[in-house]
Amino acid sequence: MNVKVVPEAKAVGREAARAVAAFILRHPRTVLGLATGTTMVPFYEDLVRLYREGLLDFSQVTTFNLDEYCGVGADDPRSYHSFMREHLFRWVNLDATRIHLPDGMVEDAGSECERYEAVIDGAGGIDLQVLGIGVNGHIGFNEPHTGLGTITHVTNLDPGTVTRNQRVTGATEPLPHTAISVGVKTIMRARHLLLLAFGRDKAEALSQALEGPITDEVPASVLQLHPDLRVILDQDAAAKLQKTFLS
Ligand code: F6R
Repeated sequence: MNVKVVPEAKAVGREAARAVAAFILRHPRTVLGLATGTTMVPFYEDLVRLYREGLLDFSQVTTFNLDEYCGVGADDPRSYHSFMREHLFRWVNLDATRIHLPDGMVEDAGSECERYEAVIDGAGGIDLQVLGIGVNGHIGFNEPHTGLGTITHVTNLDPGTVTRNQRVTGATEPLPHTAISVGVKTIMRARHLLLLAFGRDKAEALSQALEGPITDEVPASVLQLHPDLRVILDQDAAAKLQKTFLS
């Protein structure tokens, strides 16, 4: 595990964008796993900036997002399709046929999970997966006590997750309580992982995830077992870590 602590949120985004850009420069056909949420906003801002400066070419990159709400269409402002369009896809030269998110509108969500997992496999798996972390230690929408051996599945969101996301997205329509999420096992199969976090409210989850026991009470704790985990945190998010990580 490689942990870097930087002064504040914007620096987390900047460092992460640089790391991803360097990866894509070395591997133009990268299969990139993407996340949504407030943590990703400064990261995508910096990725777009690097693209505009001519340093990044997404034309051969394939993307897979981690999750989508059930019953929310791609054009619904609550959807992660919308989030991704707004923060990344509309600004860069990704080929639309290489962009993948679970479809939350299908009648048979179980089949959609199987399809999504098969498309990831067909692309050769994820090369680099970017992750945020929930205050309860979730990754993707893998909530506590949902097991560490899952592949893409339909999941019930913790009430706390829904309340928090409702607040941060500012959506007036209520958010669904179910979602399709890539599983922990699928995440762990990615060849490289990049975990990002900022803010004091993430400090406890990070302490448990990075330094606590490996348990499905804290799904992110399984990341300790990954052979190539890079973590970028701001000082607030790193505040409860025991080890001193040099920045
Ligand atoms: C969403 C995802 C989630 C978020 C987590 C943190 O695609 O993967 O695990 O990363 O809920 O969300 P924020 O960044 O809003 O605190």
